[in-house]
Amino acid sequence: MTSITTRALIEMKEKGERIVALTCYDALFARLLDASGVDILLVGDSLNQVLAGAPSTLSATLDQMIYHTKMVRRGTERAMVVCDMPFLSYQISPEDALRNCGRAMKETGCNAVKIEGGQPMAATVRRLVDIGIPVMGHLGLTPQSVHALGGYRVQGRDDAEAGRLKADATALQDAGAFAMVLELVPAPLASQITKALTIPTIGIGAGPACDGQVLVLHDMLGLNDQFSAKFIKKYAALAEDVREAARVFAAEVREGRYPGPEHSFGK
Ligand code: KIV
Repeated sequence: MTSITTRALIEMKEKGERIVALTCYDALFARLLDASGVDILLVGDSLNQVLAGAPSTLSATLDQMIYHTKMVRRGTERAMVVCDMPFLSYQISPEDALRNCGRAMKETGCNAVKIEGGQPMAATVRRLVDIGIPVMGHLGLTPQSVHALGGYRVQGRDDAEAGRLKADATALQDAGAFAMVLELVPAPLASQITKALTIPTIGIGAGPACDGQVLVLHDMLGLNDQFSAKFIKKYAALAEDVREAARVFAAEVREGRYPGPEHSFGK
């Protein structure tokens, strides 16, 4: 049973306790991150890029998200598990969103869903919340709109965009969202939004004033060393460890040094 609830996250904001979130796509990493005390495991549609090698999140499917969220759920005891709803699974109509988010909740056992967008999504958020589906919002650089936004670039740099983001954040809170991701937002704007809201903001490339921080696990582990960005801090360099382990294994196999007697069965 999860112990991190939507209420717990709001209380953490009230007490000034920072919320720790990471993306997670499978049970093995879920067990490790859960044991490390990470509060939120976000099964992000970024898995379509990180694991599946696609150029964007746009082609992620609901079946894919359900498959990975089930795995993460199985490996998690304490953290909140959030299923990221893929492109076109919630934008067509509130009814469609209810059906698809409801399916994600029922089939995966996740604790909440995440959807992208501000004021245009407020009515959908309200409908989901009203039937008991907790919703995390996502504002700023919303990757499912990358083509409309003109690429992966910081949002809210001019006054008009900043004003719209503030209005979006208030609209999501008023619609009943319990938290929201702020992605690639200038730090001063993220700070203003965070102070104006009673629900927590979880930043990624949005500066230190957010109530919590999220990173893509494979980026912060240095496993995905083909991608780097200013906001990513690498806490390990696992890509090189993996390459080196594979090189040593290959050399030992080719030279007949693996398996040794200690790895072999006599009878
Ligand atoms: O899909 C994802 O991993 C996300 C995070 C970057 C917030 O939405």
